[in-house]
Amino acid sequence: MPYAAITGWGDGMPPAVLSNEDLSTFLDTSDEWITTRTGMKERRIAHVSAIEMATLASSRALACAGLDPSEVDLIIYGGCSNDEIVPNSASGVQVALGATRAAAMDINTACTSFIYGLSTATAMVQNGTIRNAVVIGVELISRYMDWSNRNVAVLFGDGAAAVVVQATDQPSGVLGSVLGCDAEARQVLRVRGMGCTYAGVGITLGDTAWDFDGQAIFKRAVKGMSEACARVMAQAGVTADDIDLVIPHQANLRIIEAVAKYAGVPMDRVIVTVHKYGNMSAATVPVSLVEALKEGRIRPGSKILMPGFGGGLTFGALLVQWGERVTPLGESGMAFPANTRAALEMVNAIRAGQDPHGRSAAGLAAPQFAESRTGAAAPA
Ligand code: ACO
Repeated sequence: MPYAAITGWGDGMPPAVLSNEDLSTFLDTSDEWITTRTGMKERRIAHVSAIEMATLASSRALACAGLDPSEVDLIIYGGCSNDEIVPNSASGVQVALGATRAAAMDINTACTSFIYGLSTATAMVQNGTIRNAVVIGVELISRYMDWSNRNVAVLFGDGAAAVVVQATDQPSGVLGSVLGCDAEARQVLRVRGMGCTYAGVGITLGDTAWDFDGQAIFKRAVKGMSEACARVMAQAGVTADDIDLVIPHQANLRIIEAVAKYAGVPMDRVIVTVHKYGNMSAATVPVSLVEALKEGRIRPGSKILMPGFGGGLTFGALLVQWGERVTPLGESGMAFPANTRAALEMVNAIRAGQDPHGRSAAGLAAPQFAESRTGAAAPA
């Protein structure tokens, strides 16, 4: 049975930064509260679509792997931010990349979507169905955030990253995988206003409301991730001493610290990005992976633990062994279109029920095809 090595990686991070001070201009909150309770200082607000973020990340990951889009067998779009439900978002990435041979599927397990997606792609490589896959973690939560609810509005951000996995005989890639769902408590995190339940209610842009029991999620997140870590380490036959790096889901610094403590791994071996990007749901683990590689914190053969937790309440942990290469083979020429609006300006537009790109109502009514916007932007 072959292994599924991670041979490419890339991010698609929008440049506009929303600070805690920005949030304090329209919410009864403060930098002090947000920092001490969550560890967050900044998050990003996208001026592009989720498919555009996913496409840029994928293009960079493919260039990094030295793989042509025509060689991709499968694209997995992991996340709960979709431009539309039908057609799916992976198909939008497929056409924008020109990956014409690739199967294209969306996986929505909320914050664990990348972890579920990487586990799925690995299994499909191992059973011989595919040889090359792109796995994406992406979120555009700013568009359906309830910006009047300080309990959740301060916590989330937009972003994307992707990896390429390829069949190999060398032991590398995902060596252990534990996935699960604490569904008894699925009601503690719910976004109302999107989906068939609400059909006919007249829900429009910005009319979502979040059910969010932060303390219940906190406790179940620590328990779910810690148990998944213990199980995946046992499955792979490794102990905490063997773990070179933990790349956890970034929902809250205190959750990360608690999970690292339960796993028995000191914080100097844990990647933390929550202060810069907030909780990007499915994007947090791959974005943190890309940052770790850029910072030279992953070495050939590194053993990496990736725990995650999200709506559902899904949880999981992967044990990844890195391959030989820790530097990119090439660079993508793709880039986002230029951004002309500050993050706070975009958020205020969303709060006012307007389009954050500043498009007219007539422009909004017309279908927006992300692939054509991406095409117009590339190459840089
Ligand atoms: N600014 C100021 N005060 C606030 C804010 C805010 N943004 N939000 C809440 N408060 C207030 C509350 O109203 C409450 O006030 P009260 O005591 O007068 O009632 C007080 O702060 C304390 O609230 P708690 O809920 O006790 O605060 P806690 O320490 O639990 O922190 C937090 C809240 C940060 C949400 C924490 O529970 C948490 O991180 N939970 C997990 C979140 C999470 O994991 N989310 C993602 C899960 S899945 C996914 O990633 C999609």
